[in-house]
Amino acid sequence: MKKAYNFNAGPCVLPKPAIEAAIEALKDFKGTGMSVIEVSHRSKEWGEVMDECRALWRELLHIPDTYEILFLAGGASTQFLTVPMNFLEKKAAYLETGVWAKKAYKEAAGLGEAVIVASSADKTFSYIPKGWTIPTDVDYFHITTNNTIYGTEIREDFDSPVPLIADMSSDMMSRPIDIEKYALIYGGAQKNVGPAGVTFVIVRKDALGKVSRYIPTMLKYETHIDGGSMFNTPPVFSIFVMNETLKWLKSIGGVEAINKINVKKAGMLYDEIDRNSLFVGTAAKEDRSIMNVCFVMAPGHEALQDEFLSFAKERGMVGIKGHRSVGGFRASLYNACPVEAVEALIACMQDFEKLHK
Ligand SMILES: Cc1ncc(COP(=O)(O)O)c(C=O)c1O
Repeated sequence: MKKAYNFNAGPCVLPKPAIEAAIEALKDFKGTGMSVIEVSHRSKEWGEVMDECRALWRELLHIPDTYEILFLAGGASTQFLTVPMNFLEKKAAYLETGVWAKKAYKEAAGLGEAVIVASSADKTFSYIPKGWTIPTDVDYFHITTNNTIYGTEIREDFDSPVPLIADMSSDMMSRPIDIEKYALIYGGAQKNVGPAGVTFVIVRKDALGKVSRYIPTMLKYETHIDGGSMFNTPPVFSIFVMNETLKWLKSIGGVEAINKINVKKAGMLYDEIDRNSLFVGTAAKEDRSIMNVCFVMAPGHEALQDEFLSFAKERGMVGIKGHRSVGGFRASLYNACPVEAVEALIACMQDFEKLHK
């Protein structure tokens, strides 16, 4: 099979062993004589997958027992609403670092009072705002740790005087996290932790139950805690592949080990962008994401954009076109993206520069 150098932003490259295990389980799940998509989610065999997956999350991120781990449907976008439903009583605060953060804020503002503490919209979200303070009169403060479209990232787990809630859709499991700094963390799985279809939620139990509104059953975190993420039929296939993805991550040394590789991969590509006369990075250097590397043609070379896209495509690069709202290029270097893919992209950029010297 022809293998692409996959730089898609999500869904994206997944570990080969996870895909192979999925193929086997589609044929015969744990010797049941049934496919993984045919077994009952109430079966003993399925229950084992749920338990193993929860245990892997706990182990890889050192999640204390005071937190619950949920596997839900609906994507991170449903969490934009579920979060204020469960946490917003009087007022919420948001850090506006991109389109996803804006979408999260919109749902809170639709439900109650919500304020934007700081924004980087003035420069197309190319940096993380600095110098702001978290208000103390709010029910929670919401951040998006990695801004998938613009390639900026908050890589420190800071203290917050109010419950801190984070959308970690595109950098979950890319680095160790100090879980106890957060009241809740959520994200769509379809970058570092599995295929689309499953949403992860890590929530501190004692942060819940503080709002007076009626919360619809399916949007209430306690419903899913009580139901062990099986109040309704869970997205079984996506959870199966997520479990295999985490098994792979554990086998290569876990989050601590992958973080070193991620820093190395991103460093290699940023070095080339900074060196190569044809390209320039778009994110503020101190805020550069190690997951999504965004760049454009250098001033004076803009006309070469489409030519570079075709040149890279011919060499097997997939998904390096920037998001439609910002243009240019974006290489997503998620956990399963091998160092060789980054080397191939760098070689491609160097050859393109030679062509145009
Ligand atoms: C940071 C971030 N938040 C939220 C989303 C939306 O996720 P979903 O498609 O699972 O709703 C994305 C999707 O790319 C994202 O990158």
